[in-house]
Order: sequence, then structure tokens, then C-alpha cells
Amino acid sequence: MSATVTATVYTSHVPAIGVAIDLDKTDEPYWQPLFAGYEPSRQWMADNTPDVIILVYNDHATAFGLDVIPTFAIGTGARFPIADEGWGPRPVPEVEGHPVLAAHIAQSVIQQDFDLTIVNEMAVDHGLTVPLSLLFGQPEAWPCPVIPFAVNVVQYPVPSGRRCLALGRAIRRALDAYDEPLRVQVWGTGGMSHQLQGPRAGLINREFDSQFLDRLIADPTGLSEMPHVDYVREAGSEGIELVMWLIARGTMADLAGGPAPTVRRRFYHVPASNTAVGHLVLT
Ligand code: DHB
Ligand code: FE
Repeated sequence: MSATVTATVYTSHVPAIGVAIDLDKTDEPYWQPLFAGYEPSRQWMADNTPDVIILVYNDHATAFGLDVIPTFAIGTGARFPIADEGWGPRPVPEVEGHPVLAAHIAQSVIQQDFDLTIVNEMAVDHGLTVPLSLLFGQPEAWPCPVIPFAVNVVQYPVPSGRRCLALGRAIRRALDAYDEPLRVQVWGTGGMSHQLQGPRAGLINREFDSQFLDRLIADPTGLSEMPHVDYVREAGSEGIELVMWLIARGTMADLAGGPAPTVRRRFYHVPASNTAVGHLVLT
């Protein structure tokens, strides 16, 4: 018996997407193609709801600020309230955690030499709630527990892609050693190319994004060697969020000697606010 990674899911987390859902604007011409692109995944997810999601995301100076900057933080609490990012908390359900599995992952991954910060209490912002809304819509309660796994990609120094992939592999080993047969999805969120600030604000790089998706699927180890400065140069200052996708990718079977993943869904759309939206479902 062990916990199994049944799928990995990748998606951007643009806050305006959450606003469009909350204000019922998803059928407006600007948003319709974006939400249509997620519809097959929502359907697939309804048929393949996991027991637990490990949701890798970044906090945007909501739960953490310049006073405390954990590189990797795992949410071990039983519940995580929705953050107020300045306009009031989004009208979405609170996030229920999975303290037992989260504590097990912390134990295992820390003993594999990754220094996780253990967080029992934190609010979760659009980095976590927008991916849930994209894949589950507007339920009364989220359909399964979610373990928030926050990565610092906001304040330098940020972790390397290589370290993120290795961390994903360590999480997989932790799941292998868990003594309950849970079906687990690992989500990598943020990206794709976008820059919100400075002279290059508005930057989008379709070619980079397309190659990133190709390599994430077929050559994650090679992709993990890309230095962080290349993310910033090619995908913009906030494009660095993409390193988080390598954590989710590292949990897949092929990196532990198993078969290559199957692509269930691949979608790319520009624009959503200032961001190129990318999405994958791999099993
Ligand atoms: C936008 C994108 C982000 O990833 C974010 O955290 C905030 C804003 C945007 O495109 O507007
Ligand atoms: Fe962001």
C-alpha cells in the first residue's frame, strides 16, 4: 500500500481569472475562449477527482512578506482560510488540508535533506484559489483536501529548477512510503510568460512557452538545468513562477524508472490580463 500520483496538473493562476468567475463574466468574449479551453479538463477532473491534491503555488506577499521568506513551505494545518488580497477574500470555499499526509511528507522530505518550513496556519491567495476555480468551478466545498505547498518565487534568491525537480522526486518517495492507498494529484501552478513591472511589462513569449511545455512533457531533466536568469530573460520577471511546474513534474513515474506520461490535455491562450495562460494534464 502507498499513496499514488494519479495525475499532475499545470496551470497559470492569473487573479483576474478568479474575478471573472466570481463576477459571472466567463461568457464574455474576452474570457470565453479561456474558459472553453479548461472545459475538457473540468470534465476529466469530475471523473478523476483525487483523494488529495498537493498544490504547489506561490504566495504573493499575502501569508508571507519580507519579514519571513520560506523557500519551500508545506501547509500541515486542517484548514486554510481565503486571503484578503485588498478587495476582500474571494467568495470561494475555505481549503481543507490533510494534516496526516502533510506531516508525513514533511517528515520524509526533510529527512531527504529538503528544508521545508512547516506552516500550521496561513491564508491562501489567488496562487492557490484560481487553479482550484479553473478545474472545479464554483462548488459549495472543494471536492477533496488540498495540501498547500508554497514556493518563494517572489523575492530573490529563488530555488533553481534543478532543485525543484529533485524536490518533486523526494515528494514521490514520500508518497511511496505512505501506508494508505490515497490517489494523489500534484499541481504545479503559476506562469507562463508574463512581466507585471518595469519597461518590459506586458512581455509574452509564445515560442518560449511552447518549448517549455514540450520539454516539461518530454525532457524534464534537461529543462530543469535551465538557469533562473533564462526564465526572467525569456519569460519575464514573473515567468520565474514556472520553476514550480518542475516540482509537480518530478513526482511522475518516468523519473523513477516508469513509463513516460500521457498528455490528457494541453492548452495555451493569450491574453489573460498580462499573462500567457498555459495548462497541461499529465497521467
Ligand atoms: C497577473 C498574473 C500573476 O501571476 C499575478 O500573480 C498577478 C497578476 C496578471 O496577469 O495580471
Ligand atoms: Fe503570480
